[in-house]
Amino acid sequence: LARGVTRPDLAGRHVVVSAGGTREPLDPVRFLGNRSSGKQGYALARTAAARGARVTLIAADTALPDPAGVDLVRVGTAVELREAVLGAAADADAVVMAAAVADFRPAVYATGKIKKKDGQEPEPVALVRNPDILAELSGDRPRAGQVIVGFAAETDDVLANGRAKLKRKGCDLLVVNEVGERKTFGADESEAVVLGADGSETPVAHGPKEVLAETVWDLVAERLG
Ligand code: CTP
Ligand code: CA
Repeated sequence: LARGVTRPDLAGRHVVVSAGGTREPLDPVRFLGNRSSGKQGYALARTAAARGARVTLIAADTALPDPAGVDLVRVGTAVELREAVLGAAADADAVVMAAAVADFRPAVYATGKIKKKDGQEPEPVALVRNPDILAELSGDRPRAGQVIVGFAAETDDVLANGRAKLKRKGCDLLVVNEVGERKTFGADESEAVVLGADGSETPVAHGPKEVLAETVWDLVAERLG
């Protein structure tokens, strides 16, 4: 066994994990971003490596140190994340999209810094849609038998929203978190339900993000057979 491998049920497997929040630049000094810390994605990468997988971690913005024992690819925007994920997914057994991908990006990038103009209100920022990486991956399935996992943060009717999203995206598993004040974003702990395309529902009690990560890999390993 390689060093640090606890239970080698992912040995010989290649898994791709995306993490962190994309940044969509407006000009050379400003961007649209989100509150993703990257902690859940990094926990997924660490636990998969500990279970023997070869891990490609595609990291958008995070404030975390580089994890050992994984191939780290840094990206900025959703478009860059898409390129990196689709490239790495070509020979992957599983892809877990834990990154918070911006749904929109500024329609134009100003190559010079946007300046205030005396006595004038600012121009509104026009946005355009970003590609939906999870839906694209789930639709194209670069490799037969590949397991694709998404994450969703929901409010209101969390389970109904999650079920609808799982169907819309076409992935195999969707980890649904309830969000609220101080819940999920930046926290070290989380609570979730993992919905399966096969109708399964796996609740994960409030606890460290590693515990949720282990449950995700259990469900992935089951599906890989
Ligand atoms: N995702 C993606 N590409 C996007 C947006 C989201 O791959 N452009 C992935 C995320 O990484 C996550 C999953 O899709 O795994 C669900 O993200 P979410 O934002 O909940 O889904 P959306 O379809 O964007 O729905 P909403 O309108 O609720 O934001
Ligand atoms: Ca979204």
